Amino acid sequence: MQTARRMKRIAPSPTLAIDAKAKQLKAGGVDIINFGAGEPDFDTPDYIKNAAMEAIRAGYTKYTPASGSQELKEAVCDKLKRENGLDYSMKQIVINCGAKHSIYNIFQVMLNPGDEVIIPAPYWVTYPEAVKLAGGRPVVMKTTDKNEFKITAANLRRRIKPKTKMLIINSPGNPTGTVYSETELRDIMKVAVAKKIFVLSDEIYEHLTYDGMRHVSAAAVLPEAKDWTLVVNGVSKSFSMTGWRIGYTAGPEDIIADIGTLQSHSTSNPASISMKAAVAALTQPASVLPEMQRAFNERREYVVGRLNAMPGVVCQKPRGAFYVFPNVSGVLAKSLDGKVIGTSMRLAEYLLDTARVAVVPGDGFGADDYLRISYATSMANLQKGLERMEQALQAVN
Ligand SMILES: Cc1ncc(COP(=O)(O)O)c(C=O)c1O
Repeated sequence: MQTARRMKRIAPSPTLAIDAKAKQLKAGGVDIINFGAGEPDFDTPDYIKNAAMEAIRAGYTKYTPASGSQELKEAVCDKLKRENGLDYSMKQIVINCGAKHSIYNIFQVMLNPGDEVIIPAPYWVTYPEAVKLAGGRPVVMKTTDKNEFKITAANLRRRIKPKTKMLIINSPGNPTGTVYSETELRDIMKVAVAKKIFVLSDEIYEHLTYDGMRHVSAAAVLPEAKDWTLVVNGVSKSFSMTGWRIGYTAGPEDIIADIGTLQSHSTSNPASISMKAAVAALTQPASVLPEMQRAFNERREYVVGRLNAMPGVVCQKPRGAFYVFPNVSGVLAKSLDGKVIGTSMRLAEYLLDTARVAVVPGDGFGADDYLRISYATSMANLQKGLERMEQALQAVN
């Protein structure tokens, strides 16, 4: 096929691929327990759905400004002030079609060919691919579970080279659930500001933190940080609105204006109806959050306890998001059919085929000794799936 060279450099999202395979098996009648989900298993609250239905009835169904409606930008400004202590003007906000789109746009607007972006690993699968699509070069900076999968300011300083243009910070993080403290972020931002590199701060999981951890925006930790940060957020995870496709970016005015221009020639405005729904999500006091937080916290405790009791599995307790990221190197060293398992992909395939449990191999996140398990599924599913997984792991030696 004669598609462009840049498409050869990127891979399809492995998280979506496993999810699709599990869904396909399920549709074919196989009893699959799916731990691959990247979205809350809660319904979008009624007050949000009602706002969308009201928008349709009122005829709010036409083009809006390409960079998003004034009303939603205002709601985002208020939210950033109220919850994150950040003062942005409307010109510093652009509404996008989901946070993934925000990230794609940022790299398109920021990177020249060969510009480097530092990506702490384990990373969300889309980051390196979005950098490559924009002609940039992902520079992976490994972290380990010994340091809760965090980079430090000192390590970062050593990695910054003349071609470094940006750094990605994702806190709370996917797939590790890592949450940076305010002090850690301040130290990192001091380096970024001093070295004049921009930070893409992906804050999509901000409301999902546990053990008293509080999310802090990278843009808020130093007075100068705001000039060097592109804050990415949205309504997908906090309001269980993954299908509505509303994300947003806050940052320096000239960069935001360029993103608006890019959008004017690509997607045009995010869906008008979804924007009305997002205004309701951000401005009305009713919330699905306390219920989600309580359920996720209970499941997190359960999953971590069960995994640590499995042979060859070591699982840290994550502080945020809705994933656990167990180290399975003890299992990978074992054999199946006389052959060492070796890779997270082979283990994930074994679990899907034998235990009928779908997990995501760590490989796609830049960490092949791990699996990602999402606990955005019912307690009954977690119990059943983990039981099956334990039995399957006991069978390898
Ligand atoms: C770290 C991270 N950032 C961004 C996104 C994308 O969110 P959205 O659905 O708003 O595009 C996801 C979704 O899985 C994610 O895990």
